[in-house]
Amino acid sequence: MSKPGKQTTSSEAINAPEAFLEISSFHEAPLPEGQTELFLAVCKFCEEVERECAGKPSVPRWLTLSGRPGCGKTHLAKEVLKWALRYHEARPLVEPPMFMPSRARRDVLFGGCRETYDIFNGSKAHAIDRHIDDLSSVWLLILDDFGFERLSSDQQSHYWYRLLDARMGKWTLMTTNLAARQIAKFDERIRSRMWRDRNVLLESGAIDWYMPKDDSL
Ligand SMILES: Nc1ncnc2c1ncn2[C@@H]1O[C@H](COP(=O)(O)OP(=O)(O)O)[C@@H](O)[C@H]1O
Ligand SMILES: [Mg+2]
Repeated sequence: MSKPGKQTTSSEAINAPEAFLEISSFHEAPLPEGQTELFLAVCKFCEEVERECAGKPSVPRWLTLSGRPGCGKTHLAKEVLKWALRYHEARPLVEPPMFMPSRARRDVLFGGCRETYDIFNGSKAHAIDRHIDDLSSVWLLILDDFGFERLSSDQQSHYWYRLLDARMGKWTLMTTNLAARQIAKFDERIRSRMWRDRNVLLESGAIDWYMPKDDSL
């Protein structure tokens, strides 16, 4: 089996937005095997966002990075956040419960799904509605670790569906440890949106970053 230490792709060989390469750690070292596909998908997503920011035609979409734990999804998502804040006049929203609803186009929110899960789980209906409205209106939403709670109730999936349906046609980056078939078990309508229209659901085969590099193991 291939090991993470076996580095195969130089980031220079990838047609990525320069600003993204500059801020990300990827210009420092070649990508570990398996991560190239994730990286390319993120670069393409960022390139499209850059087009919009430059006033060129671009249709907002989702990118969902699916892969096993430890393969680098959150790492990449955080790089996207850094890039959006630094280069695209994005304004960070404060983590829950202090959402700051705003009409500004460049609000960006990086949120772990746990906070949203908790709000969906124990809040009053009006607080849930407000949370869904707040997340729906963000210019770029980065949702980390979707579906971390596998034994979710029908009520949970109903709220997640409402939220995600409201995000159709908006820049959305998600990470998940769930494979497409597991997402469908959680809610088939959600999976359907993950690959609907221009949305991309990438199932990556990248391996755990911390997997021992020693071939003798
Ligand atoms: N390309 C990379 N360069 C440096 N560190 C990385 C890279 N990819 C992953 N890592 C590290 O590996 C660990 C696991 O990555 P993480 O993004 O949390 O995985 P996942 O979200 O897929 O479970 C983190 O400590 C992260 O910083
Ligand atoms: Mg993660």
